[in-house]
Amino acid sequence: MRVYIVDDYEQMSVKAALIVAGQITMKADSILGLCTGSTPIGMYKELVKLHQQGLDFSHVITFNLDEYWGLSPDNVQSYHYFMHENFFKHVNVKPENIHIPNGLAENVDDECIRYEEAIKQANGLDLQVLGIGRNGHIGFNEPSTVFIAETHLVELDADTINDNARFFPSREEVPTRAITMGIKTIMQAKKILLLANGEGKAHAIKEAVTGEINPGVPASILQLHPDCTFIIDKAAAKYL
Ligand code: PGA
Repeated sequence: MRVYIVDDYEQMSVKAALIVAGQITMKADSILGLCTGSTPIGMYKELVKLHQQGLDFSHVITFNLDEYWGLSPDNVQSYHYFMHENFFKHVNVKPENIHIPNGLAENVDDECIRYEEAIKQANGLDLQVLGIGRNGHIGFNEPSTVFIAETHLVELDADTINDNARFFPSREEVPTRAITMGIKTIMQAKKILLLANGEGKAHAIKEAVTGEINPGVPASILQLHPDCTFIIDKAAAKYL
């Protein structure tokens, strides 16, 4: 695991975007795993700038980490909406190459299997970008007594619901369930890039980087990944 400590959010975002751009430069048809949340917004802005300077996404295939269960793609709180607003509408990823779990699927088990299969059919993820929850989650793999391998429906932690309530009109409106890639789905990515900023993430980062590998801190499993890079700002590195 490589850990780069940078001064601030802007440096984190620029460095992350350059790594993603490097991946696309090396392999135009890269399979990218993408994340949502406050953390990657700056990286997406930088990638849009790089696209305006010629970075071509026309052969890139994307798979998002997760989606709230019960939200339609046009719901402004959905991760479909987030991705389109913050990234896809500004770059040239082909719509048919964009994959995000369907939060309104008729049968959730079938949807999880379909999503996992689609990633396998694409030959797996070349680069997965991750944020981290204050509770150490990656995707929506919440702290638990076991690592869950494949894409699945998850009951969100009270901590996660509290943290994400800032994006919703009220806490009551935050969905309590989500579809998320599993730990194996994520760990099978050839490269992983985890971003974190702010002191609120400092404890989770310490546990993920220096703690025991255990499902109580899902991100701790990244210590076993052969090509994982953390880019964190000074505040998130406070306890390292
Ligand atoms: P955030 O979420 O970027 O909004 O802090 C990260 C996460 O929960 O993975």
